[in-house]
Formats: sequence, C-alpha cells, structure tokens
Amino acid sequence: MDLSVDEEIAALRRRRRAVIVAHNYQPAPVQDIADYVGDSFELSALASQTDAEVIVFCGVHFMAEAAALLAPGRTVVLPDLRAGCPLADTVSPEDVRALRARHPRAAVVAYVNTSAAVKAEADLCVTSANALRVIEALAEDEVIFVPDANLGNFVARHTRKRLITWNGTCRAHNAVRVDDVRTARREHPDAPIVVHPEVPPAVAERADAVLGTGGMLQYVRTHEARRFVIGTEAGILHRMRRENPDKEFHLLSASLWCPTMKYTDLAGVARALRDLEPRIEVPPEVATRARRALERMLELGRRREGG
Ligand code: 13P
Repeated sequence: MDLSVDEEIAALRRRRRAVIVAHNYQPAPVQDIADYVGDSFELSALASQTDAEVIVFCGVHFMAEAAALLAPGRTVVLPDLRAGCPLADTVSPEDVRALRARHPRAAVVAYVNTSAAVKAEADLCVTSANALRVIEALAEDEVIFVPDANLGNFVARHTRKRLITWNGTCRAHNAVRVDDVRTARREHPDAPIVVHPEVPPAVAERADAVLGTGGMLQYVRTHEARRFVIGTEAGILHRMRRENPDKEFHLLSASLWCPTMKYTDLAGVARALRDLEPRIEVPPEVATRARRALERMLELGRRREGG
C-alpha cells in the first residue's frame, strides 16, 4: 500500500528519532507538519537543547548551519540546498577581517543571517529579537554590525553606541516603500502596521511597531485590534491566521515574498528524512569560533525583546 507523503513523514520521523523545525516564513504545509515553528532565535535555542538525533531544518542555509553549530553530534539536514539567503551572501569573512583591522576597538556583531565562516570572525551574534538589547549590553562603545544595513540603522537610532554598518539588505524587506504604508493607512485605517527591522528606515519610522517575527506573533496575539498590516515575509500570515482565527491580517507589500524560503516542500522533507541528505556540516576550525559567537548570543539574549 502506498503511503501518503504525510504518513511517510510521520513514520520516518519516528524511525529517525527526528525533530522537524520550521521558520515562520515557511510554506503553510511545511509549518503544519513541523514539530516546532519559530523565529531564528527560538529555533537556535531549540537546536541547542534537543535530544533528537536528527534535525530537519525547514528554513534557509544559515539557519541550518546555526543548528549544526549548536547541536554538535546530531545530524542536521536542509531539505533543499538551493535555500540560501542572498542577504547572508553579501558579506564574507575577508570583509569582516578588513573592517576589524580598520576599527580595532570595535566589537564585531554578526546578524544570525550570516555564514558560519562570517560568524567565526565575529565576537557574537544577534537576531532581530535581541539585537538592540545585546548590543546595548556590550562593553565596547563602537560596534561593527554586519550585514543588514537597515537593522543596523534601526539599532543605531535606539542606542548611543557608534555603529559601523555593512551595506547588505534583504531584497524582500528592502523593497517595501513609504507609499505602501500610505496605502495601508488609507485602506485599513484601524489596523496597526507592524514591520520587521529589515525594512528601510523611512518605512520603520512610519510603522506602529518594529519587531522580529517572534515579537510580531506576540504583538498580534495580545493587541486588542482586530485587523493588522504585516511588514514581513508572507509565510508568517499562515501562522498568524491559524493562531488568531478571529483577526484579519494583510500584507504591507507584494514584495514581501522570499523565493528561497519556498524551496522546502513535503516531498523534500520526506526525502531528507529518508536519505539524511543534504547534510549541513561546518568544518571544525570554523565551528569552534562560530559556535562561541552563537553561544554568547544565547547567553545574553535569552530574555527576548522586540527590535
Ligand atoms: P526572525 O529572526 O525575525 O525570525 O527573522 C529571520 C529572517 O531571516 C528575517 O529576514
């Protein structure tokens, strides 16, 4: 008898002693079969604590790499290797070394959206959920922040520290325009507009809240409004609607769609569980240093805050 793909995943998940984790931007069917759906910080923390033997990471490459760093000895698979992050690709380890040489007194902070090789050059990592708080807690007054210029500018506007930012941006978030905010205010005057800090500063300034994806989910759950305009990747709307069936969610801009997040599908998840490929591994000399940067983030960032 042929098994459906859902049944095959369920059987393989048990046989492999696997956990399936999915980022908030993943396609709806993938979120629905995952054991955990979360933001980058939550999924990193989960990887560091799981006792599963296999982690199927439904997200993009840098996230699976972070899981591999934080769960040594476990097998981490990414269902589709094409799932990269163009933002993470904007900065190389050589770029970070050159910045450090130019600003020797500055702390080097890598956004989690970076390769393990870049994390290995950093003093610590942050996600959008903890960037401001973690950077504020640093002893240094000068901070090199790579690679997202918009998140860097957002932090710079809320701290007295001097930030030296890189010029990377996320194509989807950076394409949101002030006009999109004007249109949303006209069409949904009663709806708070909540945006991710990867949007351009002019958009963030006009929003009602600037939060990472986990912070946004909490905001819409606890806010009394019945209708919200969401300024982050479209995949999150599925979870918002599922968790808040009595509320209405609208996307701020049609640009908010990440093609690489959509490479994951159920057939790929079943294949990854069956073959334990494509496997994500980090060379040991890079892993030791990159893991330290991530672990510092976990220590400093456990108390989550938006921004
Ligand atoms: P979060 O850390 O808010 O989940 O965002 C991840 C991301 O890749 C944003 O583009």
